Amino acid sequence: MKLVLLAGGKGERLRPLTDNKQKALMPILGEPLICRHLKELSKLNPEKIIIILSYKKEQVVEEVKKCFPNENKIVYVDQKEEKGTGHAIKMAMDYGGEGDYLIIYSDLYLSKNVYKNLIKLKSPGIVVTEVSKPWNYGVVKIENEIIKDIKEKPKIDEPVSNTIFAGILRLPFDSKEYIDNIKLSSRNEYEVTDAIKEMIKSFDIFTLNIPKNQWLDIGRPWDLLIANRLALDEEIKGQVIKGDVHNSVVIKGDVIIEEGAEIKPYTVIEGPVFISKNSIIGPTSHLRPYTIFLKNSSAGYSVEVKGSIVMEFSKLPHFNYVGDSIIGEHVNLGAGTITANLRFDHKSIKMKVKEDIIDTEMEKLGSIIGDYAQTGINVSILPGKKIGSHAIIYPGCIVDRDVNSYEIFKCKNAL
Ligand code: UTP
Repeated sequence: MKLVLLAGGKGERLRPLTDNKQKALMPILGEPLICRHLKELSKLNPEKIIIILSYKKEQVVEEVKKCFPNENKIVYVDQKEEKGTGHAIKMAMDYGGEGDYLIIYSDLYLSKNVYKNLIKLKSPGIVVTEVSKPWNYGVVKIENEIIKDIKEKPKIDEPVSNTIFAGILRLPFDSKEYIDNIKLSSRNEYEVTDAIKEMIKSFDIFTLNIPKNQWLDIGRPWDLLIANRLALDEEIKGQVIKGDVHNSVVIKGDVIIEEGAEIKPYTVIEGPVFISKNSIIGPTSHLRPYTIFLKNSSAGYSVEVKGSIVMEFSKLPHFNYVGDSIIGEHVNLGAGTITANLRFDHKSIKMKVKEDIIDTEMEKLGSIIGDYAQTGINVSILPGKKIGSHAIIYPGCIVDRDVNSYEIFKCKNAL
């Protein structure tokens, strides 16, 4: 079997997190998604691994070489233009030739239990799962484990089943003619669901079901928070403390502190929490459940962080509150910068994704801050707002709208 990982898309909906990174490099407990997939899927012993690339391709190759230094089964195919999943699969089959293909979107969070079960997926077959709001996906109708229909992104609230195509499929080379014949969709892409729709007219396509909470499509920024929460729950058990922890520090629950990390006096950590290598926390900071600090990041004096991911080299130096937020890499928050994560009316937080305002269905959600952004002292960011990479927020400002990448946000009352 040949394994194909699709990692070519631009990840527009995930901006600003994809301003500088391909979606496949989004971290799950500090590990790029594609590395996690490769580590787990190589256990299925594929004869070849084909990675489809386009947007930020050199970066993906570099990261894969770091996490899989001696893997001679891997080949990279340049899709050149991001023309859709169908086009990406065609490129893989054009390269790979005869054989059976296990094809996986690399922007999926999969529980570690799922990977080994993928071997049970019959060919031709697709993996399905259940979601509460199916309208953004390819919705499938199944009878006796065989697909009877598939409908890409039905109208919102149209009554359809909750079962969706989960971005994993197994296809024999024979099915290539269906992939070759996909027509451009209304979204101006070649979508693999269109080929599946044609295939079911001629032969049976089997299904394999992934249980709830073991799968997530990381399409929008808050999906990355949810995926990491699932991973914290599933993969962090007990306390593994390899860093330097002052004896006044209080640690409760499941916590990992990697080597080279330092936890300064009077800090309180309530798990599940993951603190990666060479991060520095405290003194007197409070890390609450579902907090992740990636390599070389820091929280200084009196900083409170909850339900958030702080990426590599970012600094929360003094008196910051960061709740239910994602802080990209190399971000610096000025003293007193606060993220609000709850509305007075407790209604769920909305976020702008491309041109649409989406209800995240999360009662608590803070901000999404792109790489290299900086805030001045006493900046307040309202719930669900995004700050683009390299943006600068003047001291004393209230950020009540999304800020573009490289924008300098200066408000009336700027200090
Ligand atoms: P998505 O459609 O979710 O990814 O593709 P996208 O196009 O990057 O996302 P948005 O819509 O701009 O936010 C699912 C998977 O297929 C890959 C993506 O990288 C993702 O892993 N893909 C998508 C390709 O490899 N090539 C493409 O042309 C499109």
